[in-house]
Amino acid sequence: MRHAAVTGWGMAVPDRVLTNHDLSQMVDTSDEWIVSRTGIRERRVVTPTDTATSMSITAGRAACEKAGIDSADLDLIVVGTYTADHQMPSVASLVQDALGARRAGAFDVNAACSGFVYALAVGSQFIESGVYSKVLVIGTDVASRFLDYTDRGTCILFGDGSGAVVLQPSSADEGLLSLVLGSDGSAGQHLTLGDNTALENMNGDRTVERPFMKMNGPEVFRFAVRVMGEAAAEAVIKAGLTFGDIDLLVPHQANLRIIDAAARRLELPRDRVWVNVDRYGNTSSASVPISLVEAVDAGAIQDGMNVVVVGFGGGLTWAAGVLRWGSSGVAQEARR
Ligand code: ACO
Repeated sequence: MRHAAVTGWGMAVPDRVLTNHDLSQMVDTSDEWIVSRTGIRERRVVTPTDTATSMSITAGRAACEKAGIDSADLDLIVVGTYTADHQMPSVASLVQDALGARRAGAFDVNAACSGFVYALAVGSQFIESGVYSKVLVIGTDVASRFLDYTDRGTCILFGDGSGAVVLQPSSADEGLLSLVLGSDGSAGQHLTLGDNTALENMNGDRTVERPFMKMNGPEVFRFAVRVMGEAAAEAVIKAGLTFGDIDLLVPHQANLRIIDAAARRLELPRDRVWVNVDRYGNTSSASVPISLVEAVDAGAIQDGMNVVVVGFGGGLTWAAGVLRWGSSGVAQEARR
């Protein structure tokens, strides 16, 4: 059995910091309200030179370097995003060009904030089936371009960023051990961005406005509290593990209260949950891979550890998986 092991990781966030204090000058809110309801203190937002593509290139290049592979040898690039710079070309194709990945196929996956875990699911299938051996999976979003900075219910929540991992086949009992993907389109109206059916068509109809993210916060909150814990628990059971085997929970960073609820469901103490929502806000598809990168670099994830990743988002969607960290079973020749 070939397992999809993570051999490299990288991240990118814009330099520009937007604090709760900054937001309180823009909308009727306060640092105290935002911290107590969400746990967020500041977030990064793009400068004029940052794009979804530029951040993905930085994160993807770092992941390839960490894996010790030449990006020209990549077989596939999958980017989870709902805020691509263009409807086409995809972010993945622009990354493929910038990294000189001449042999690689490339496409984007849109599952909103579940996007990275969905992209990981797609990439891992190509590894496990033996079709490909070097897959770059990226999660990137630039939500700040699509926020209404007069709507205090949404604009305080999101930040921008990118995170990436390289997947390679391992013969050892490590890498992605289980996957859970889910969707409930019947609740899709609670979290939306844009309406292409309102674009001008052959009849000359044109009712479209600048697309902004619209959200029913309490409804999404209730959904998130339920599915984060359920999906994570299902992934643990599918991996043949118990909650006691989990070394670290790496949840989508949307709201500290949602993260705490998921941790309670898995019976995990706070020191076994990665939290950076205070510094980045909700970076959508980027939040899980940024958290993985930070946790590994901080030594909170080490070889042999069982790590649960879980996300939720627009669609509505959810996704979870268990990763046993390490790449001891990746052939040395594959690392060159
Ligand atoms: N500052 C001050 N007051 C505010 C703010 C704000 N930024 N936002 C809302 N309020 C007010 C409301 O107007 C309301 O006032 P009222 O009682 O006078 O009407 C009061 O605070 C309570 O509002 P709620 O919306 O009920 O507050 P809640 O505790 O639910 O927190 C929040 C709102 C933080 C948005 C929460 O619902 C939440 O986190 N929801 C989930 C959002 C989420 O995770 N979205 C990401 C999805 S991922 C993706 O795919 C994009």
